[in-house]
Amino acid sequence: MKKIKIGICGWGTVATALHRSILENKNQIKRTHQVDLEIVAIGARRDNPKYSAGKTKVLRNIFDVLDEDIDVLVELIGGTDDAKTLISSSFEKKIPVVTANKAVIYEYGDILFKEASNNGVDFLFEASVCAGTPTINLLKNDLAGNKFLSIKGMLNGTSNFIISQMEDGMSFEDSLSFAQENGYAEADPTFDIEGIDAAHKISILSNIVFGSPLPPNEFLIEGISNITKQDIYIAEKLDFTVKHVSSADMKDGKLLIRSNPALVQKSDYLSSLKNVRNGLVIDTDLIGKIHISGSGAGGEATAAGVISDIVRLASESTNHNATSKEDLKYRQISDELFSFLIIVNSSSENINSDVLDMLAEHNISIRNSGLINDGNKSDMTCFFETEEITSINLQEFLNDLDNLSSNFKTLRIEK
Ligand SMILES: NC(=O)c1ccc[n+]([C@@H]2O[C@H](COP(=O)([O-])OP(=O)(O)OC[C@H]3O[C@@H](n4cnc5c(N)ncnc54)[C@H](OP(=O)(O)O)[C@@H]3O)[C@@H](O)[C@H]2O)c1
Repeated sequence: MKKIKIGICGWGTVATALHRSILENKNQIKRTHQVDLEIVAIGARRDNPKYSAGKTKVLRNIFDVLDEDIDVLVELIGGTDDAKTLISSSFEKKIPVVTANKAVIYEYGDILFKEASNNGVDFLFEASVCAGTPTINLLKNDLAGNKFLSIKGMLNGTSNFIISQMEDGMSFEDSLSFAQENGYAEADPTFDIEGIDAAHKISILSNIVFGSPLPPNEFLIEGISNITKQDIYIAEKLDFTVKHVSSADMKDGKLLIRSNPALVQKSDYLSSLKNVRNGLVIDTDLIGKIHISGSGAGGEATAAGVISDIVRLASESTNHNATSKEDLKYRQISDELFSFLIIVNSSSENINSDVLDMLAEHNISIRNSGLINDGNKSDMTCFFETEEITSINLQEFLNDLDNLSSNFKTLRIEK
C-alpha cells in the first residue's frame, strides 16, 4: 500500500476539517484507494481555538513544513502573494502541491503551472472551484476527447444563499447578515457579493477548457450587491429567477467570459438550485449538456476535494496543467445580443407610456411589460423585457431614459 506523507499549511476552516476528515476516513481511504494518508506536520502561526491538532507536529513558521519529510504540501492559507511564495518554494524542493486557493491560481496560474512543469511536480486544485463537488478533474481528465462549447454556472454559494433568502422575503442587508451568522459569508463579504470569487473560478475553468490566460484579460464582473427584493418580485412575475451566473463560451472561434447577476428561466436547471448549492452546465460536442451540482463551500466539502487530489497523486503523475493559448481570440460583451429586463421607478403617472414611446424610438421591441403601483400614484414602477439587443443599443436608450427618470436599472436575461 502506498503511503502519502502530508504537510498542511494554514490552520483555519478547511485545514482543520481536512485534518479531522483524514483521521476519520483513513481506513475507508485505505480500503477503497489503497493509500495510507499520514499528516506529518501542520504550519499554523497560532492554535485554532475550535480544534486541536492532537499529536500532529505543529510548526509556527509555515515554510518550515517544507523541511519535513513530506510527499505533498497542502496550501490552505488563502490569499495571493504569501501563498504564491509558499507554492513556488515547494516546487523548488520538488514537492507537489494541492491547494483550494482560487485567488492565487487566478492571479498567478500561468506562472505556477510553468514552475510546476519546470520542476516536474504536480499541482492540483480540485477544491478551488465548487469545493469537493467534482469539477476540475472532471474537465481535465474524464471529459478528455470532448470539445467544449460552453461552461456556465453558479459558482458562488454565498450569492445563491443570499438570493434564496431574498426570495423568501428578506432584504439584501438582512440576508447578508443571516449568511454571515451562519458562516456562509466572510466578515468582509466583498469577494462574494461583488462577483470576484465567482470570477476567479470561471477564469480557472476557462483556462482548463479554452486555454485562456491566468490572470485573464479583463471581462465583465458584476456582483449581486445591487439586487433588490423588487427585482426578484418582477423576475418571478416574468417566470424567471435571479441568479449569479458565470460563463465562458466559444462562438465562431472567439471566447467570451463573464460573471454577472442575471435572470434565468424557471425551467432552467440552474434555476432550481437554492441556498449554498453550486451548479454547472457543461456543453460539449460529443456528450452534449452535462449537469453538476453540489455544495460549493464549507470545511468538510472543501476537504473532500483536497483529499481527492492527494489520493490522485498516489495513483498517477498528473503534471499536465492547461497551458494558456497566446493566439486566443475574444468576443466583446458590448457586441453580444442579450434580452434585458429594464425596471424604471418614477413619480410620473405617464412613465409607462413615455418609456414605451422611447423604446419604439430606439427600435427596441419588447416581449413583456408590466406596471406596479402599490396603490400610490406618486410612486410608479414599470418593467420591460426586451427582445435581444446589444449593450450598445441598450446604452443609447438608457442615455435618453435618464431624461425621464434617473431611477432605473437593467438586468441581463440568460438565453
Ligand atoms: N472555507 C471554505 O468554504 C472554502 C471553500 C473553497 C475554498 N476555500 C479556500 O481554502 C483556503 C482556506 O480557506 P479557509 O476558509 O480555511 O480560511 P481561514 O479559515 O481564514 O484559514 C486560513 C488559515 O491560514 C492562516 N494564514 C493566512 N495567511 C497566512 C500567512 N501569511 N502565514 C501563515 N498562515 C496564514 C490563517 O492564520 P490566522 O488564523 O493566524 O490568520 C488561518 O489559519 C482559501 O484559499 C479559500 O479560498 C475555502
